[in-house]
Amino acid sequence: MIRLTVNGKAYDVDVEPDTPLLWALRENVGLTGTKYGCGIAQCGACTVHVDGVATRSCSLQVSDAVGKQITTIEGLAQGNVLHKVQKAWVDHEVPQCGYCQTGMIMAVAALLKDKPKPTDADINAEITNICRCGTFQQVRAAIHAAANA
Ligand code: FES
Ligand code: FES
Repeated sequence: MIRLTVNGKAYDVDVEPDTPLLWALRENVGLTGTKYGCGIAQCGACTVHVDGVATRSCSLQVSDAVGKQITTIEGLAQGNVLHKVQKAWVDHEVPQCGYCQTGMIMAVAALLKDKPKPTDADINAEITNICRCGTFQQVRAAIHAAANA
């Protein structure tokens, strides 16, 4: 058994230590908001926070997440109060199919914690998530809106 702390709750998951965190979250913990895209740390669909750092969970083994605070999209809002990034996403109608968006939102939430007023260059450098629907313009606008919220 491996103990993971996810969204402030402890879960004992019966997986091999080298299981990708993504699969433990989806299959064992039952939180399916975190998505599988590429499996090789390229697309960002699987982004969660590990001790506050945006992390591509397809490429982190569960044994390396033990003792750390894992936050998924399900844990980003505070009760019924959306995180300012979620609010900006709704206001700007960012998602199209939505598949990449939970990872995108988690990456942006981490960016704004480190850089509350990111420039376009910061966004280009830090938000490397891939969106096959091409929502990049709305993403950028919503990031600036959230930064000014
Ligand atoms: S599924 Fe993890 S980066 Fe693509
Ligand atoms: S909204 Fe469809 S992949 Fe990004």
